[in-house]
Amino acid sequence: MRTGRCDMAWLEAGAGWPVILLHAFPLRADMWRAQLEAVPPDWRFIAPDFRGFGGTRALAAGDGGIDEYAADIGDFMDCLKLEDAVIAGLSMGGYVAFALYRQSPARFNGLVLADTRPQADTPSGREGRAAMRALLAREGTPAVAAQMLPKLLSPRARSEDPAVAAYVRRLIEGADPAGVDAAIAAMADRPDSTPDLPRIACATLVLAGELDEITPVADARAMDAALPRSTLTILEGAGHLSNLERPQVFNRALGDFLLARL
Ligand code: MLT
Repeated sequence: MRTGRCDMAWLEAGAGWPVILLHAFPLRADMWRAQLEAVPPDWRFIAPDFRGFGGTRALAAGDGGIDEYAADIGDFMDCLKLEDAVIAGLSMGGYVAFALYRQSPARFNGLVLADTRPQADTPSGREGRAAMRALLAREGTPAVAAQMLPKLLSPRARSEDPAVAAYVRRLIEGADPAGVDAAIAAMADRPDSTPDLPRIACATLVLAGELDEITPVADARAMDAALPRSTLTILEGAGHLSNLERPQVFNRALGDFLLARL
Protein backbone atom coordinates (compact mmCIF):
# COMPACT_ATOMS: atom_id res chain seq x y z
CA MET A 1 0.00 0.00 0.00
CA ARG A 2 1.27 3.45 -0.88
CA THR A 3 0.82 5.87 2.04
CA GLY A 4 1.88 9.52 1.89
CA ARG A 5 5.36 8.54 3.06
CA CYS A 6 6.12 4.92 2.11
CA ASP A 7 5.37 1.91 0.01
CA MET A 8 4.26 0.00 3.04
CA ALA A 9 4.34 -3.78 3.53
CA TRP A 10 2.71 -5.53 6.46
CA LEU A 11 1.35 -8.81 7.73
CA GLU A 12 -1.96 -9.16 9.44
CA ALA A 13 -4.29 -11.73 10.96
CA GLY A 14 -7.56 -11.74 12.85
CA ALA A 15 -10.50 -9.35 12.84
CA GLY A 16 -11.64 -6.80 15.39
CA TRP A 17 -9.88 -4.22 17.54
CA PRO A 18 -6.47 -3.35 16.10
CA VAL A 19 -3.08 -4.09 17.60
CA ILE A 20 -0.03 -2.71 15.77
CA LEU A 21 3.07 -4.86 16.29
CA LEU A 22 6.36 -2.97 15.79
CA HIS A 23 9.38 -5.15 15.14
CA ALA A 24 12.91 -5.26 16.53
CA PHE A 25 16.14 -4.31 14.76
CA PRO A 26 17.37 -5.61 12.34
CA LEU A 27 14.39 -7.87 11.70
CA ARG A 28 11.01 -7.33 10.07
CA ALA A 29 7.31 -8.01 10.57
CA ASP A 30 7.90 -11.73 10.09
CA MET A 31 9.35 -11.94 13.60
CA TRP A 32 5.76 -11.72 14.91
CA ARG A 33 4.64 -14.90 13.18
CA ALA A 34 3.97 -16.78 16.45
CA GLN A 35 1.73 -13.90 17.53
CA LEU A 36 0.02 -13.65 14.12
CA GLU A 37 -0.78 -17.35 14.32
CA ALA A 38 -2.50 -16.98 17.70
CA VAL A 39 -4.59 -13.81 17.52
CA PRO A 40 -7.18 -13.72 20.31
CA PRO A 41 -10.87 -13.48 19.27
CA ASP A 42 -12.07 -9.91 18.60
CA TRP A 43 -8.57 -8.63 17.81
CA ARG A 44 -6.78 -7.81 14.57
CA PHE A 45 -2.99 -7.96 14.64
CA ILE A 46 -1.21 -5.75 12.09
CA ALA A 47 2.58 -5.98 11.77
CA PRO A 48 4.18 -3.42 9.43
CA ASP A 49 7.76 -3.51 8.18
CA PHE A 50 9.67 -0.35 9.09
CA ARG A 51 11.07 1.71 6.22
CA GLY A 52 14.11 -0.03 4.74
CA PHE A 53 13.08 -3.42 6.16
CA GLY A 54 11.12 -6.28 4.61
CA GLY A 55 8.94 -4.86 1.84
CA THR A 56 8.64 -1.23 3.04
CA ARG A 57 10.42 1.57 1.19
CA ALA A 58 10.33 5.28 2.01
CA LEU A 59 9.12 7.46 -0.86
CA ALA A 60 11.54 10.22 0.09
CA ALA A 61 14.50 10.47 2.44
CA GLY A 62 13.64 12.42 5.58
CA ASP A 63 15.97 13.45 8.38
CA GLY A 64 16.51 9.79 9.17
CA GLY A 65 15.63 10.06 12.86
CA ILE A 66 13.50 7.71 14.95
CA ASP A 67 10.61 10.20 14.46
CA GLU A 68 10.51 9.25 10.77
CA TYR A 69 9.76 5.64 11.64
CA ALA A 70 7.01 6.78 14.01
CA ALA A 71 5.49 9.18 11.47
CA ASP A 72 5.40 6.30 8.97
CA ILE A 73 3.32 4.28 11.42
CA GLY A 74 0.96 7.18 12.12
CA ASP A 75 0.46 7.68 8.39
CA PHE A 76 -0.05 3.94 7.91
CA MET A 77 -2.75 3.95 10.62
CA ASP A 78 -4.48 6.84 8.86
CA CYS A 79 -4.43 4.94 5.57
CA LEU A 80 -5.96 1.91 7.30
CA LYS A 81 -8.54 4.29 8.83
CA LEU A 82 -7.49 3.37 12.36
CA GLU A 83 -8.05 6.21 14.79
CA ASP A 84 -6.34 4.31 17.56
CA ALA A 85 -4.90 0.90 18.38
CA VAL A 86 -2.99 -0.98 21.01
CA ILE A 87 0.61 -0.28 19.97
CA ALA A 88 3.11 -3.01 20.83
CA GLY A 89 6.81 -2.55 20.22
CA LEU A 90 9.70 -4.90 20.88
CA SER A 91 13.08 -3.24 21.37
CA MET A 92 13.50 -0.82 18.42
CA GLY A 93 9.74 -1.20 18.06
CA GLY A 94 9.48 0.24 21.58
CA TYR A 95 11.75 3.18 20.67
CA VAL A 96 9.40 3.91 17.76
CA ALA A 97 6.34 3.53 20.01
CA PHE A 98 7.76 6.17 22.41
CA ALA A 99 8.29 8.53 19.46
CA LEU A 100 4.76 7.87 18.19
CA TYR A 101 3.35 8.57 21.64
CA ARG A 102 5.09 11.96 21.64
CA GLN A 103 3.65 12.68 18.19
CA SER A 104 0.07 11.56 18.83
CA PRO A 105 -0.91 10.07 22.20
CA ALA A 106 -4.55 9.83 21.09
CA ARG A 107 -3.56 6.97 18.77
CA PHE A 108 -2.90 4.74 21.80
CA ASN A 109 -5.60 2.46 23.11
CA GLY A 110 -2.91 0.67 25.11
CA LEU A 111 0.84 0.23 24.91
CA VAL A 112 2.96 -2.92 25.08
CA LEU A 113 6.68 -2.39 25.69
CA ALA A 114 8.58 -5.64 25.19
CA ASP A 115 12.33 -5.98 25.73
CA THR A 116 12.90 -2.27 25.27
CA ARG A 117 14.03 0.71 27.28
CA PRO A 118 13.29 4.43 27.39
CA GLN A 119 16.87 5.70 27.79
CA ALA A 120 18.87 7.12 24.91
CA ASP A 121 22.16 5.45 23.97
CA THR A 122 25.11 6.10 26.26
CA PRO A 123 28.33 7.49 24.69
CA SER A 124 29.78 3.97 24.65
CA GLY A 125 26.55 2.65 23.14
CA ARG A 126 26.94 5.22 20.34
CA GLU A 127 30.50 4.08 19.77
CA GLY A 128 29.20 0.53 19.46
CA ARG A 129 26.68 1.72 16.86
CA ALA A 130 29.45 3.44 14.86
CA ALA A 131 31.47 0.22 14.98
CA MET A 132 28.47 -1.76 13.78
CA ARG A 133 27.94 0.62 10.84
CA ALA A 134 31.60 0.16 9.90
CA LEU A 135 31.27 -3.63 10.18
CA LEU A 136 28.15 -3.55 8.03
CA ALA A 137 29.90 -1.47 5.37
CA ARG A 138 32.91 -3.81 5.38
CA GLU A 139 31.34 -7.25 5.70
CA GLY A 140 27.60 -6.90 5.19
CA THR A 141 24.59 -8.27 7.07
CA PRO A 142 26.10 -11.76 7.76
CA ALA A 143 28.68 -10.10 10.02
CA VAL A 144 25.94 -8.11 11.78
CA ALA A 145 24.00 -11.34 12.30
CA ALA A 146 27.08 -13.07 13.74
CA GLN A 147 27.68 -10.20 16.14
CA MET A 148 24.08 -9.79 17.24
CA LEU A 149 22.83 -13.36 17.58
CA PRO A 150 24.49 -14.04 20.94
CA LYS A 151 22.81 -10.92 22.32
CA LEU A 152 19.41 -11.44 20.71
CA LEU A 153 18.88 -15.00 21.94
CA SER A 154 19.55 -16.69 25.27
CA PRO A 155 22.27 -19.36 25.45
CA ARG A 156 19.50 -21.96 25.83
CA ALA A 157 17.75 -20.89 22.65
CA ARG A 158 21.02 -20.85 20.74
CA SER A 159 22.01 -24.35 21.83
CA GLU A 160 18.64 -26.09 22.16
CA ASP A 161 16.52 -24.30 19.58
CA PRO A 162 18.59 -24.22 16.40
CA ALA A 163 15.48 -23.53 14.31
CA VAL A 164 14.87 -20.21 16.09
CA ALA A 165 18.55 -19.24 15.83
CA ALA A 166 18.61 -20.13 12.10
CA TYR A 167 15.40 -18.19 11.54
CA VAL A 168 16.71 -15.03 13.20
CA ARG A 169 20.00 -15.33 11.31
CA ARG A 170 18.10 -15.66 8.05
CA LEU A 171 16.00 -12.57 8.75
CA ILE A 172 19.08 -10.49 9.55
CA GLU A 173 21.15 -11.76 6.65
CA GLY A 174 18.27 -11.04 4.27
CA ALA A 175 17.86 -7.43 5.46
CA ASP A 176 18.69 -4.54 3.14
CA PRO A 177 22.07 -3.10 4.29
CA ALA A 178 20.90 0.47 3.57
CA GLY A 179 17.84 0.00 5.80
CA VAL A 180 19.96 -1.56 8.54
CA ASP A 181 22.47 1.28 8.37
CA ALA A 182 19.75 3.96 8.55
CA ALA A 183 18.15 2.27 11.57
CA ILE A 184 21.48 2.08 13.43
CA ALA A 185 21.93 5.82 12.90
CA ALA A 186 18.36 6.54 14.01
CA MET A 187 18.70 4.46 17.18
CA ALA A 188 22.02 6.13 18.05
CA ASP A 189 20.40 9.57 17.82
CA ARG A 190 17.12 8.79 19.53
CA PRO A 191 16.16 11.02 22.46
CA ASP A 192 15.71 9.95 26.06
CA SER A 193 12.08 8.92 26.56
CA THR A 194 12.39 8.56 30.34
CA PRO A 195 10.79 11.96 31.08
CA ASP A 196 7.75 10.88 29.02
CA LEU A 197 6.97 7.81 31.13
CA PRO A 198 4.91 9.50 33.88
CA ARG A 199 2.84 11.20 31.16
CA ILE A 200 1.85 7.98 29.36
CA ALA A 201 -1.81 7.83 30.29
CA CYS A 202 -2.91 4.59 28.59
CA ALA A 203 -2.73 1.11 30.12
CA THR A 204 0.70 -0.40 29.55
CA LEU A 205 2.12 -3.91 29.59
CA VAL A 206 5.87 -4.25 30.10
CA LEU A 207 7.29 -7.60 29.01
CA ALA A 208 10.89 -8.65 29.45
CA GLY A 209 12.94 -11.76 28.85
CA GLU A 210 14.61 -12.73 32.12
CA LEU A 211 17.96 -13.15 30.35
CA ASP A 212 17.70 -10.17 28.00
CA GLU A 213 21.22 -8.78 27.55
CA ILE A 214 20.37 -5.81 25.34
CA THR A 215 17.58 -4.33 27.48
CA PRO A 216 18.01 -6.01 30.88
CA VAL A 217 15.19 -6.79 33.29
CA ALA A 218 16.35 -3.95 35.58
CA ASP A 219 15.38 -1.50 32.82
CA ALA A 220 11.97 -3.14 32.51
CA ARG A 221 11.39 -2.89 36.26
CA ALA A 222 12.36 0.79 36.32
CA MET A 223 10.11 1.48 33.34
CA ASP A 224 7.21 -0.34 34.98
CA ALA A 225 7.69 1.69 38.18
CA ALA A 226 7.69 4.99 36.25
CA LEU A 227 4.61 4.25 34.13
CA PRO A 228 1.32 5.28 35.81
CA ARG A 229 -0.78 2.29 34.59
CA SER A 230 1.66 -0.53 34.05
CA THR A 231 1.75 -4.31 34.51
CA LEU A 232 5.06 -6.15 34.36
CA THR A 233 5.60 -9.72 33.16
CA ILE A 234 9.06 -11.32 33.20
CA LEU A 235 9.43 -14.25 30.79
CA GLU A 236 11.50 -16.84 32.56
CA GLY A 237 14.51 -18.16 30.69
CA ALA A 238 13.95 -15.93 27.64
CA GLY A 239 16.51 -13.64 26.04
CA HIS A 240 15.95 -10.39 24.13
CA LEU A 241 13.62 -11.78 21.44
CA SER A 242 11.23 -13.05 24.09
CA ASN A 243 8.27 -13.34 21.69
CA LEU A 244 10.22 -15.85 19.60
CA GLU A 245 11.81 -17.75 22.47
CA ARG A 246 8.73 -18.10 24.66
CA PRO A 247 5.82 -17.50 22.28
CA GLN A 248 3.18 -19.20 24.41
CA VAL A 249 3.99 -17.28 27.58
CA PHE A 250 4.35 -14.07 25.59
CA ASN A 251 0.98 -14.65 23.89
CA ARG A 252 -0.71 -15.42 27.18
CA ALA A 253 0.53 -12.19 28.79
CA LEU A 254 -0.46 -10.19 25.70
CA GLY A 255 -3.85 -11.93 25.50
CA ASP A 256 -4.61 -11.20 29.18
CA PHE A 257 -3.69 -7.56 28.68
CA LEU A 258 -5.90 -7.30 25.60
CA LEU A 259 -8.81 -9.04 27.31
CA ALA A 260 -8.74 -6.35 29.97
CA ARG A 261 -8.97 -3.68 27.21
CA LEU A 262 -12.32 -5.01 25.82
C1 MLT B 1 16.56 -4.35 18.77
O1 MLT B 1 16.39 -5.52 19.13
O2 MLT B 1 15.66 -3.70 18.23
C2 MLT B 1 17.92 -3.70 18.96
O3 MLT B 1 18.81 -4.64 19.41
C3 MLT B 1 17.81 -2.54 19.89
C4 MLT B 1 19.09 -1.85 20.11
O4 MLT B 1 20.10 -2.20 19.49
O5 MLT B 1 19.11 -0.90 20.91
